[in-house]
Amino acid sequence: MAETIPDLRGVPKARAYTELQSHCEAILSGIRDEVAAMATVASLVHNAFGHLWTGFYRVVEPGALLRVGPYQGSLGCLEIAFGRGVCGTAAVERRTVIVPDVEKFPGHITCDSRARSEIVVPVTGARGDLIAVLDVDSDRLDSFDREDQRGLERMVSWFATAAT
Ligand code: SME
Repeated sequence: MAETIPDLRGVPKARAYTELQSHCEAILSGIRDEVAAMATVASLVHNAFGHLWTGFYRVVEPGALLRVGPYQGSLGCLEIAFGRGVCGTAAVERRTVIVPDVEKFPGHITCDSRARSEIVVPVTGARGDLIAVLDVDSDRLDSFDREDQRGLERMVSWFATAAT
């Protein structure tokens, strides 16, 4: 495989996500394995945008517990209860949560003290159930907006349509 990861820092987000989406689809073509897809999405998003931390927390006890999955960046905490932190909130509410300033989010879980803003996107599986959340952290305030939400939600829609 000769795919490289584009450097999309500074590229308008809508265009950046369109480009990343086609990369992702090309790389995952013919693949149905969830872990392979999580690792691929984490690597693409993390390196294309130069984020601080990008990765998945998987649902290991439905309605109760998330455990870290494929990720890029410094060490992430291993387990997060539903309802705790930004990840646990997105899991309970099954909606994307954008946090412009982590210090203003009550209960934010700090894995890396450099984190300033964050977006967490729920990941739905083929049976319509929540299988994970995708967490992206930045070392800059207010890094994420509706374009990130749209782009990341589209990218993780792979898990509802293509995963086994
Ligand atoms: N900040 C997250 C925890 C995960 S790490 O940042 C990698 C949260 O509050 O859920």
